[in-house]
Amino acid sequence: MNLTLKIWRQNGPQDKGGMVDYKVTDISEHMSFLEMMDVLNEGLVAKNEDPVAFDHDCREGICGSCSLHINGEPHGPDRGITTCQLHMRMFNDGDTIHIEPWRAKAFPVIKDLVVDRTAFERIQQAGAYISVNTSGNTQDANAIPIPKFDADLSMDAAACIGCGACVASCKNSSAMLFVGAKVSQFALLPQGRVEAKDRVLNMVKQMDEEGFGNCTNTGACEVECPKNISLENIARMNREYLKASI
Ligand code: SF4
Ligand code: FES
Repeated sequence: MNLTLKIWRQNGPQDKGGMVDYKVTDISEHMSFLEMMDVLNEGLVAKNEDPVAFDHDCREGICGSCSLHINGEPHGPDRGITTCQLHMRMFNDGDTIHIEPWRAKAFPVIKDLVVDRTAFERIQQAGAYISVNTSGNTQDANAIPIPKFDADLSMDAAACIGCGACVASCKNSSAMLFVGAKVSQFALLPQGRVEAKDRVLNMVKQMDEEGFGNCTNTGACEVECPKNISLENIARMNREYLKASI
């Protein structure tokens, strides 16, 4: 395939930035999207030009770092996958592909397609943990019976990889799917009930302080989430918040 890429280039947080056109040729349909980006960058480096900065790590859909807005959709046109799992067979020879960073006030651009997502880390630090004695007296997790239905729901919520696609897809830049998943994975388990009240209050407070918007139930986040995190997690977080506030 021969493709035209329109890519957001921005030298740093203060730079205005803009779209720049590139051509890539002989792209195999079996390549991943990031391998196609590697081909582009190898060509730029060979010409002594600055390669396009983009985030990636595991390239297996696990780490959540590959955050690209492709043709107007976080993680591109496929469903239930991250950008690193997107294959070039989803595109056609001669296509023009628009590639941009996540757009949200709470995710400022660092360079080109790389955004600062440490806001998510600060939300996690505000409550996404349990206090367990690990000094040798830790209770075996299997000693606490948990209904399978609850365990399954908790595991589903824990599948969130913190990629930020929910924020990028939302017209309000809301992080409620992410925070809802993090609150839910603990709220559903007895080990998480001990600090449940402080957790939801502190995480929602931090979410608001970071500048994320509110949820207006459009559901774009659920559609674009690579881990199929359900909107039910937002409803559960709201219930937890209400209970903790009273
Ligand atoms: S809820 Fe989905 S889209 Fe949002 S951070 Fe988690 S995995 Fe990514
Ligand atoms: S590079 Fe880790 S999820 Fe894509």
